[in-house]
Amino acid sequence: MNDKQQIANHAASYVKDDMLVGLGTGSTANFFIEALARRQLEEHLKVTTVSSSNISMIKAQSLGLNVISLQQVSAIDLYVDGADEITPDLTLLKGRGYDLVMEKLLAKAAQQFFVVADKSKLVNRIGTNFAIPIEVMPLAWQSVKNSIEKVGGRGELRPNAAKDGLSISAYGSLILDMTFEPTTSGENLNQLLNNIPGIIEHGIFHQLANAVFISDDGNIEEKWQ
Ligand code: A5P
Repeated sequence: MNDKQQIANHAASYVKDDMLVGLGTGSTANFFIEALARRQLEEHLKVTTVSSSNISMIKAQSLGLNVISLQQVSAIDLYVDGADEITPDLTLLKGRGYDLVMEKLLAKAAQQFFVVADKSKLVNRIGTNFAIPIEVMPLAWQSVKNSIEKVGGRGELRPNAAKDGLSISAYGSLILDMTFEPTTSGENLNQLLNNIPGIIEHGIFHQLANAVFISDDGNIEEKWQ
């Protein structure tokens, strides 16, 4: 069993009967979906799920999990997802995929949000390994980019995988991948980006995670907010 699988199994052990569970997106979240489906099959655990992406919904359904739409509920019990970066104060960077809007909606709607990752995701500051993904309304991308450049950000629209066009998010938005001076904290960046009109959502998840579960060569560490 690898570290991602081990930590996903650990998070799945927190799920109780009759919970409404948010499903994340990515390789670690996939192991969590598998662990949940296994508990449903072997222990007759009763769960309903809401997915953060179409790809996770398809995986969950193929394993027999009941998936409903976020439109049908106002809150969920527990959301479990991976992250791209995690700082010591449990601020996250997410959204290297295309589904950060839904991911943040689930994180906010969840009574508890647990992050599952191996130790490669631990960093001292947001933006250490990746640019900050920022979903923008297509008609506003130039003005958003300009607003971000005025506060020292640099970056470009994300190209598609074939590099012959632009990346389009699950909700039809464009994505700016922006880097900032190392002196700007995740908390400040979060505030700054929250205040720019035309930004639909961005990848900094500040004060949303209740706990981060880290696996490191077979050892599990829980960090609680
Ligand atoms: C998806 O948009 C991201 O927020 C993921 O949670 C992140 O990329 C983690 O993926 P892995 O578990 O595959 O590293």
